[in-house]
Amino acid sequence: MLNIYQNFTQAVTLQNALIKDGRHLLPSDLSIIKNAAIVFDDNNILWVGESSKIPSQYSNSPTQNFSGKIILPEIIDCHTHLVFGGDRANEYTMRLNGASYEEIANAGGGIVNTMKQTRLMSRQKLFEMACTRVNTLASYGVGTIEIKSGYGLNFEKEYELSMIIHELKQKFKGKLQIINTFMAAHAIPKEFSCSSEYISNVVLPLLSKLAPEKILDAVDIFHEKNYFSTEDVLALFKLAQQLNIPCKMHVDEFYDNKGAVLAVQSNAISCDHLLMTGDDGVAALARSSTVACLLPGTGFFLGKPQAPARKFLDAGVRVAIGSDYNPGSCHCDNVLLIASLAAPQYKMNQAELFAAITLNAAHALGIKNQGALVPGLRPRFSIFNTTQLDNLTYHWGKNFFECH
Ligand code: NIG
Ligand code: FE
Repeated sequence: MLNIYQNFTQAVTLQNALIKDGRHLLPSDLSIIKNAAIVFDDNNILWVGESSKIPSQYSNSPTQNFSGKIILPEIIDCHTHLVFGGDRANEYTMRLNGASYEEIANAGGGIVNTMKQTRLMSRQKLFEMACTRVNTLASYGVGTIEIKSGYGLNFEKEYELSMIIHELKQKFKGKLQIINTFMAAHAIPKEFSCSSEYISNVVLPLLSKLAPEKILDAVDIFHEKNYFSTEDVLALFKLAQQLNIPCKMHVDEFYDNKGAVLAVQSNAISCDHLLMTGDDGVAALARSSTVACLLPGTGFFLGKPQAPARKFLDAGVRVAIGSDYNPGSCHCDNVLLIASLAAPQYKMNQAELFAAITLNAAHALGIKNQGALVPGLRPRFSIFNTTQLDNLTYHWGKNFFECH
């Protein structure tokens, strides 16, 4: 079906950002069109331009009026862990009172704490709670949501979590796009004496079982001291690549473990966190198509120094921002709020900021046919009830989302 949406105060097309591969962006690369219209069918954007110049071939088609509103490429949250049971409010307070995330995790808290609460929760209840969370993200104008498994940490519960994400994908089909990321390699449960034992007894066999069901969009692994080693990453990625599943990594969150370099060498589609990444990691990413996904909410929530965002941006790395929404290290579900708070800290310009949660976030998920309002790309966009883009991040946390 053909649709014409017209009279937007602004269409933030990111046309030039797309041409520049999402790198070295200047504010003008937002390619904003004033008093704009967009023509699209179910699969493609057909035309974008000024409302007064809609081509005559579309003149008999019905139009919808969006005056006073803006349209931009769909807001994407490219990094969440939103299927979990229970909460870790007490750990947040422990951190306020002086304990570090690592100390709490080493004392039996952290991911393993949520694992215990998740294992106790039924599949139905986990699904219902995740549905509520997905609906909340959608209410902010987020249209694509990546969701990682990883709080089951045994064969049965991790299988269940991947199936729950698949069910969410089916439930929201047509409304939202959900990306199902397999992250059984999130922490090592105490049933196993070392990471490689858990990888070979649970993670690899489960990936082999799930892959033929064709429900996984990516695999991820927490490459970090006391979590998973380089050997574990290589074993997981070898199998994933045989199965044709794209790879992602959590890297350099607590230490410079050379995770970014490993991600590039492994052809990962993204590597995420990057708080401690050194210059070698920055240089490797700049020469690659691996997206650096920054998660500023986690730095804020844990009281850690932030990733060297300007170094990545100046080197020409493709930079995305995700929420990292999870019960422990970032209990915030609003990627637009997180990006609004982070941009002044990171010293990102407006194009870098919005590309990070649209175009570059799509690439962090391996999606190459959305992220700009340009003919030929998919018609995935977010419409906000405000007259200028500036307002979205100027009013921290205010919801301007317009459901259409
Ligand atoms: O991305 N770093 C590893 N995983 C999550 C933390 C999850 C948790 O603390 O529950 C993250 O920050
Ligand atoms: Fe994460």
